[in-house]
Amino acid sequence: MRVKGKNYKSIWLDKKEQAVIAIDQRLLPHQFKLLYLRNIKDIKKAIKEMVVRGAPLIGVTAAYGIYLSMIKDPSNKSLNQSVNFLKDARPTAVNLSWALELMKKKLLDVNIENRVQESKKIAHEISDNDIECCKRIAENGLKIILDIKKKKKNKTINILTHCNAGWLATVDWGTALSPIFLAHRKKIKIHVWVDETRPRNQGSSLTAWELLQEKIPHTIITDNAGGHIMQHGMVDMCITGSDRTTSNGDVCNKIGTYLKALSAYDNKIPFYVALPSSTIDIKSKNYLKDIPIEQRNSNEITHINGLNSKGKKTKIRITPKGSKVSNYSFDVTPAKYVTRLITEKGIHKPTKNEIKKIFN
Ligand code: MRU
Repeated sequence: MRVKGKNYKSIWLDKKEQAVIAIDQRLLPHQFKLLYLRNIKDIKKAIKEMVVRGAPLIGVTAAYGIYLSMIKDPSNKSLNQSVNFLKDARPTAVNLSWALELMKKKLLDVNIENRVQESKKIAHEISDNDIECCKRIAENGLKIILDIKKKKKNKTINILTHCNAGWLATVDWGTALSPIFLAHRKKIKIHVWVDETRPRNQGSSLTAWELLQEKIPHTIITDNAGGHIMQHGMVDMCITGSDRTTSNGDVCNKIGTYLKALSAYDNKIPFYVALPSSTIDIKSKNYLKDIPIEQRNSNEITHINGLNSKGKKTKIRITPKGSKVSNYSFDVTPAKYVTRLITEKGIHKPTKNEIKKIFN
């Protein structure tokens, strides 16, 4: 997608293919800076500290991490150690273990002398496949937008989204935002309600920034405003991404997604979830037991980052020092509140049977 008119992916290899280049998402929307990740430790730190984030991009970054570790030492021992080292960088997005297991499975079948080349090839394939999935999600999601357009007789379509499931969360295009980007390019009138998404504000910092770059009309709202605007007929559809979706169609995504889905359900507004099939964890059945919910550092809640009046980066405390803080980062929206899942394979009911068919 475009940054100041120039096309970018969110991750790629440097010219010598000895380092991974990523956009430092911690600095957006104020600064667009590229970061070089030169070894597996850099990769883990980048995932943990959310230089890169978003389920699909976390998976792709880890795959490139395995390539960097194969350059240093392509042995079985190093492969196993590297996979284990990266596995717990973040717990919730299933794409991380999905990509690592895929790398491991394929590389164990490859002679040690070919592992560097092969690991690069597989990581590129995972990355290219992610772009392809996102493009197909865009086309499938567009069908839904076109239906709403017809019903609304070409009036502006208001779409609410939570967190950032745009191209920064994937390699290109995004999941929840990809149908929006495509619809806008097809000159369909769209306006996006952007949940700020406390505490890290992926909505107000990343989603808003992506939409601005593409010149898509949007408005940032507080996380608590969604119910109100839905009651007042100001939302035609909701769409989010997912970090892990169970075999029953329950959707784990950024904290607060569940409350938006409840509100959409109460107001009879369709609630869509866009995701590549690599985000479906076919092994997880019970969403309360089988999904590890990340709890992040309390300073994400006690402090807020921004620019001061002089344009200088500043971090300020916003809570009293003695108060206890819990920072749950994800929640689960049970399948009954999800209208449809949109994947690269099509548009599916969030049921066990329909999900099974995705993998046949
Ligand atoms: O904590 P983050 O920023 O990694 O959380 C990201 C999300 O919750 C996204 O909605 C999800 O990964 C889907 S991204 C295409």
